Amino acid sequence: MKNSNSNYFLEKPNLKSQDPDVYEILKAEEEKQTNKLCMIASENFVSKAIREAVGSAFMNKYSEGQVGKRFYEGNYNIDDLEKLCKERAAKLFNIPVKWRVNVQALSGSPANLAVYMALLKPGEKIMGMYLYDGGHITHGWSYEKGLKNDPSKIIHRGGQRKVSASSYFFTSVQYKTDPQTQLIDYDKLEKAVLAEKPQILVTGGTAYPREIDYKRMNSIAKKAGAYYLADIAHEAGLIAAGVNNSPVGIADVVTFTTHKTLRCNRGAIIMADKKLMKKIDRAVFPGLQGGPHNHSIAGIAVGLKEAMQPEFKKYAAQIVKNAKALASALEGYRFDIVSGGTDKHLLLIDLSSKGVFGRKFARALDYAGIVANMNTIPQESRSPSDPSGLRIGTPWVTTRGLKEEDMGLIAKWMNRVMERISEWKSLKFDVFDAKVAKCDALVGIASEIKEFLSDGDCC
Ligand SMILES: Cc1ncc(COP(=O)(O)O)c(C=O)c1O
Repeated sequence: MKNSNSNYFLEKPNLKSQDPDVYEILKAEEEKQTNKLCMIASENFVSKAIREAVGSAFMNKYSEGQVGKRFYEGNYNIDDLEKLCKERAAKLFNIPVKWRVNVQALSGSPANLAVYMALLKPGEKIMGMYLYDGGHITHGWSYEKGLKNDPSKIIHRGGQRKVSASSYFFTSVQYKTDPQTQLIDYDKLEKAVLAEKPQILVTGGTAYPREIDYKRMNSIAKKAGAYYLADIAHEAGLIAAGVNNSPVGIADVVTFTTHKTLRCNRGAIIMADKKLMKKIDRAVFPGLQGGPHNHSIAGIAVGLKEAMQPEFKKYAAQIVKNAKALASALEGYRFDIVSGGTDKHLLLIDLSSKGVFGRKFARALDYAGIVANMNTIPQESRSPSDPSGLRIGTPWVTTRGLKEEDMGLIAKWMNRVMERISEWKSLKFDVFDAKVAKCDALVGIASEIKEFLSDGDCC
């Protein structure tokens, strides 16, 4: 055909020549990701094959509907892709025969909202873990400005600031961890759930470093006549590899993001019995969104196959070994680890005894080449925008090949940063920031880390 556009993509200039502005920003981000220790617990580093799938022609197709039942023509390849992705997810997580999978939700928050929309009426009650103790914002978070946490109460009733759709459209209460152990006290929780009578009980979160007793949680939910949603966004990869326990087949519904320990690109998966899944499928589309992001589904399919390989089991086990090694090395430098350690990929550090809190420590670490995030801790008494803790995780550095002995080095670097900045702990944040940005000691640590990461043993 004359003037054929069949080579449209190949003939066009590449990113560098067509859009140097975006290209330069991308290069800067790639450089940062190469030269720093990226230790945000919810992040990971995907393979080239996943990047190829995500950047593929799948992004050009609209495919509203379900496999074999689409609203637009030309979806035979997309049907094959989505079917394959669902089959891989089902196999990897060993779902019961009567369970089904949805891979269309655009991310973790819409996946949770789809479950609420499918199973609850507006105004019905969600009961999830208190945000400050490690729960997620989509588990019913709301608050009242100026209202302090009352440690004697196991329930947080929230307030007028309904910042999440999960508290805006539904009633919500949140359960707290035990003030002494910083763990879920299942007996106290059971009493609270029976008193509150939620329509759905939710577990999981962003900063709870310990395993959850899914059987006990399910039995508590059932006694209260509630559905049980296990949100395993953080530990999905550890569960797929058998390193952490699985709620699949125990909870009524399981949701997770695909981009944390599971090491796929961004997206979400929902699993449930087929009767519930019919409603959930409808809540995802047309309830909350139009066409699925087929390029994301393609990447997730590739990532799920990677997670089925024996190397992934080793990888997941190493993530946990690294997190445990980091926790004990940090304890050696007198950092207080919430709950005394971790069963997973993350640890939460209570910085109260150091007097330099999460916001300042996270900023100084970043200048020194370690990227982590400030975080609230159980019994938090400070503001979430300047909380007492720091959350740090090992999925990314484990992908880069780091082992337990390297965690000792990381703890040492972290301690050097803390020692250097402690004299500036009382400064206003902007003044502190200006000082640490120019601090030679931190620049020195950043170059040590860059050199360490460029060593042949690291990927
Ligand atoms: C437990 C949990 N659920 C849900 C989400 C939401 O995922 P997304 O950021 O993809 O909306 C997160 C994200 O960090 C999470 O940690």
